Amino acid sequence: MKTRALGSSGLAVGAVGMGCMYLSIQDRPTEEAAVRTLLAAMDAGISLLDTADVYCHDQRDIGHNERLVARALRERKSAAVTVATKGGLERPNGAWTRNGRPGHLRRACEASLAALGVDRIDVYQLHAPDPSVPFADSVGELARLRAEGKIAHVGLSNVTVSEIEEARRIVPVVSVQNRWNPGDRAPETDGVLATCSANAIAFLPYSPFGGASGARRLSAGKLAAEAKLREMSPHRLVLAWMLAKSPAVITIPGARRIESIADSAGAADVTLSEADVSAIERAFGR
Ligand SMILES: NC(=O)c1ccc[n+]([C@@H]2O[C@H](COP(=O)([O-])OP(=O)(O)OC[C@H]3O[C@@H](n4cnc5c(N)ncnc54)[C@H](OP(=O)(O)O)[C@@H]3O)[C@@H](O)[C@H]2O)c1
Repeated sequence: MKTRALGSSGLAVGAVGMGCMYLSIQDRPTEEAAVRTLLAAMDAGISLLDTADVYCHDQRDIGHNERLVARALRERKSAAVTVATKGGLERPNGAWTRNGRPGHLRRACEASLAALGVDRIDVYQLHAPDPSVPFADSVGELARLRAEGKIAHVGLSNVTVSEIEEARRIVPVVSVQNRWNPGDRAPETDGVLATCSANAIAFLPYSPFGGASGARRLSAGKLAAEAKLREMSPHRLVLAWMLAKSPAVITIPGARRIESIADSAGAADVTLSEADVSAIERAFGR
């Protein structure tokens, strides 16, 4: 699989990574099936796994997804895989709530180190700014965890351009993870994709198909016709389109099934012309 620089980290990873969330939330597969999907992802050349402490059912289940990732990595010791996890959310009774307090981030990071079974986390992302905590306090704690060697690199998620700039004044930022898909193209207009591209920050679009329901919708309509013309699935075409938009992009499609991630992985080796990109964009939403 073709690789890309993970921002200024010095790491290179496959241009298609895997988002592991669907292996641990509602309608999740058995642990055995989930591990098989993770192993198939690595066999397809995927070398970036995106996880989070809160990819789980509820607060008692925190770390479920990180433990799955750790189990798959124990079974594929030879694989050179970068793991990006996150802290800054909680799951009381299964809800998604924000907690960016420094004390919480420190405890969450230590729990993630234990769940992943590592001494240092490759990439630790602030899951989302917490409006009740000064952003600089949350980022400052990640900077301290990095200085202590618990985190190799810091990433951000669900942030604006001004938050990226504020964070970069505190600590080097290697990645930004915001929502981007054919139905929600905000990063192309809000400056986030351009800021990442201009500053050697990897941009990891989340929900590239719009989640499970969006993924189902991609199978019909004009985009599906564009994909058929190019003899590939609409999902692979969407990922290839994202990769063509900027060299900063590294995709992290989700998957429960082996077939999904194996198909998505093929996007790394698709080359699209400018004319292809225009035709694909004309097909969105029709
Ligand atoms: N930072 C954040 O706030 C945030 C928020 C949401 C997500 N994320 C991250 O982003 C990752 C990706 O987003 P997502 O999981 O929400 O949604 P997604 O990648 O847009 O969609 C996942 C869905 O697409 C289907 N799919 C994947 N590849 C396919 C293919 N090649 N052909 C047909 N169907 C395919 C999967 O089906 P099967 O399940 O049947 O395989 C699954 O239902 C997450 O796993 C997570 O790591 C981050």
